[in-house]
Amino acid sequence: MKPIKAAVLGCGDRGNVYAGYALLHPEEMEIVAVADIDAVALKTTGDKYGIPDTLRFKDVDEFLAADVKCDTVINATMDGAHYYTAKKLIERGYDQLLEKPIVNNAEELEELKDLAEEKGVSLIVCHVLRYTPFYKYIKTLLNAGEIGRIFTMEMNEHVELVHFADSFVRGKWADERECGSGLLLQKCSHDLDLMCWLNNFTKPKAVSSFGSRAYFIPENAPEGATEFCYNCPNGKTCLYCAQKIHLDLDWFYFQTWRGIGKPLDEITREEKEEFLKTSDYGRCVYTLRRDLVDRQTVSVAFKDGSVCLFTVVGGCSSGGRFIHIVGSKGEISGKLEENKIKISRTVRKDGGFEKTTEIVDLSDKIPENSKHSNGDMSLMREYVRFLCGDRSSISLTTIDDSVSGHTCVYAAEKSRKEGKTVELEL
Ligand SMILES: NC(=O)c1ccc[n+]([C@@H]2O[C@H](COP(=O)([O-])OP(=O)(O)OC[C@H]3O[C@@H](n4cnc5c(N)ncnc54)[C@H](O)[C@@H]3O)[C@@H](O)[C@H]2O)c1
Repeated sequence: MKPIKAAVLGCGDRGNVYAGYALLHPEEMEIVAVADIDAVALKTTGDKYGIPDTLRFKDVDEFLAADVKCDTVINATMDGAHYYTAKKLIERGYDQLLEKPIVNNAEELEELKDLAEEKGVSLIVCHVLRYTPFYKYIKTLLNAGEIGRIFTMEMNEHVELVHFADSFVRGKWADERECGSGLLLQKCSHDLDLMCWLNNFTKPKAVSSFGSRAYFIPENAPEGATEFCYNCPNGKTCLYCAQKIHLDLDWFYFQTWRGIGKPLDEITREEKEEFLKTSDYGRCVYTLRRDLVDRQTVSVAFKDGSVCLFTVVGGCSSGGRFIHIVGSKGEISGKLEENKIKISRTVRKDGGFEKTTEIVDLSDKIPENSKHSNGDMSLMREYVRFLCGDRSSISLTTIDDSVSGHTCVYAAEKSRKEGKTVELEL
């Protein structure tokens, strides 16, 4: 097989994760062009993949003007840029792998879906969790009818406290007014997508949601807290001390230090210290006055009578995604990060009842250090095969099957903000 030729639009964290497949499997994929509005990101990624200057572009318009020949464009720009960039690429007939969230509202989603159909191009969304051994196995069980008809699905996402602070309190997704997407769309479009994809024997018909920002608010700041952490008297006790998290432990370095505007490995400790004195990454999490919720629940009623619940909460001691599905012939439950799936059933045996429990351990399917429990590289593997004509993936679906989850997110946000149940027309 000849390697497929891919261009990367948006050379940040995610763009580089997907592009990295070309380094692992050069016989399957080759990066032929890169584009980014940030000169540092463009240079770093361009150099990494040996891209000539003539195939490095500062934005999507410059990329399109050059009429680059490639099999796909990996669009990993930030949320607010998806609509403009994805539309331009579709109009020019490029197949596209687009990061989630697809776009920030239902109207734009409908427009892109229709446009992709009209132009006959594929628009595949990075629903990375669908490709993890954990959710894939659950989907295989459901497709085989192993637990019968789905009654309910309970799903939770616990976002660990440092992760939540770095991304959703201080970071680039912390404010819906700036980023265009709220917590549910940004973080949990994965979960609502999983809910709809796992239960795609039917369609969602109504959504209701509650949520609030009730922890990361000024009233909860510890006594004497200052605007920035560097001169705060609570530095030794506060769970969110920026100096501890970022300078001492260097957690989430790939997000935190981007704003310094230098390649990450060239940034000095002194530059980091100065950055934290003025950047949001160094501010008190309680007084930042951002607008994202820190907890939210979503209830979805499906047309076949199944009812599914999802809860997200930020600021947890440990992070993780949990699922429990109850069906007419049994139950499936587990935690993604543990990579174990429990299947319980009550069956009739010898005239009586017997309870059975089976644990399926998928740990050996997860290479060490893989992001998203091995979802990212599996996604790329199946995407490359899709471009070569293979239609056997259960995870990779057309944009039609991506719409339900995102539509539930938009409806849930409407429900939360307006305090009413939202009916869907899917
Ligand atoms: N699938 C997942 O699990 C997952 C995880 C994290 C983020 N994401 C999503 O992936 C996308 C990228 O996130 P990231 O963490 O890599 O962000 P990032 O900031 O690290 O990278 C985005 C890059 O896009 C560039 N960019 C922005 N607008 C552009 C434009 N108009 N044209 C060209 N380049 C542009 C930025 O300069 C930046 O280099 C976001 O939509 C984010 O929500 C998905």
